[in-house]
Amino acid sequence: MSKVTIGKEEISCLQKGGGKPSWLFLHGAGGTHRHWGKQIQGLGNATLASLDLPGHGRSKGKGRQSIEGYADLVVEFIDALALESPTVIGHSMGGAIALDLALRHGERLGGLVLVGTGARLRVMPSLLEGLRGEYESTVDLLCGYVYGPSANEEMVRLGREEMLAIGPEVLTGDLLACDRFDVMDRLGEVRLPTLVICGEEDQLTPLKYSQFLVDHIQGARLVTIPEAGHMVMLEKPQETTEAIARFSPLTPS
Ligand code: COA
Repeated sequence: MSKVTIGKEEISCLQKGGGKPSWLFLHGAGGTHRHWGKQIQGLGNATLASLDLPGHGRSKGKGRQSIEGYADLVVEFIDALALESPTVIGHSMGGAIALDLALRHGERLGGLVLVGTGARLRVMPSLLEGLRGEYESTVDLLCGYVYGPSANEEMVRLGREEMLAIGPEVLTGDLLACDRFDVMDRLGEVRLPTLVICGEEDQLTPLKYSQFLVDHIQGARLVTIPEAGHMVMLEKPQETTEAIARFSPLTPS
């Protein structure tokens, strides 16, 4: 893991390769860079970077309460690493950050891969209310929706541990950021090659959300992955990596 200082925050990041093109991976609410581990391993000789957003995983700093707040940090991160026209691959909240970047800084990006996400991400009130009271049981409730039929016990255990470690303040901020996000009527402004990937059993961002993205982003393509839930890139790593590789000049190694 390398460290990049942005303002007063130390951001941790897994980096691989140094060639072109460059790919930047963004995790979702309560997640870490680890969620993209298999894709980083499986994609060829490009520049691949997967960061921990502030307050998550090994990154210091404070979480944000808006998608724009996270996107502003990501722009600075792109500058700090001198990533040239990166394709941004975002999962769930990370997909919302990618969409916000495409709308506000589209000329800086090479493409979008939107995984288990949507143009509007309202959050179940029971989750937001639960976080104010019983953190651990609310994390358990969330984990019950997050993982689909292919998730094994170890995957769920690790994800739960990571989420518990980031703490109620950061997770609440993430879910508030999602709840406030809505670009449903702005997707026609996105002018980037776009791939949308969704697990067919996704309960948090159902296939309908991905279909909406594909119907409204010019030229976007949809890949659906059977027997996978919201954590499609962990639950079906090979299928997800292959879908990303087919979208690009990269080939799975
Ligand atoms: N793409 C396409 N359609 C969407 C959408 C998206 N991103 N987000 C919402 N919609 C649709 C809904 O399906 C619904 O359609 P319908 O009226 O035909 O049923 C309509 O827009 C309104 O939905 P919503 O804005 O979500 O409000 P709601 O009061 O109906 O439901 C929730 C609120 C929280 C219960 C609901 O959004 C939900 O179940 N969300 C998924 C669970 C969750 O917490 N996800 C977290 C994401 S990080």
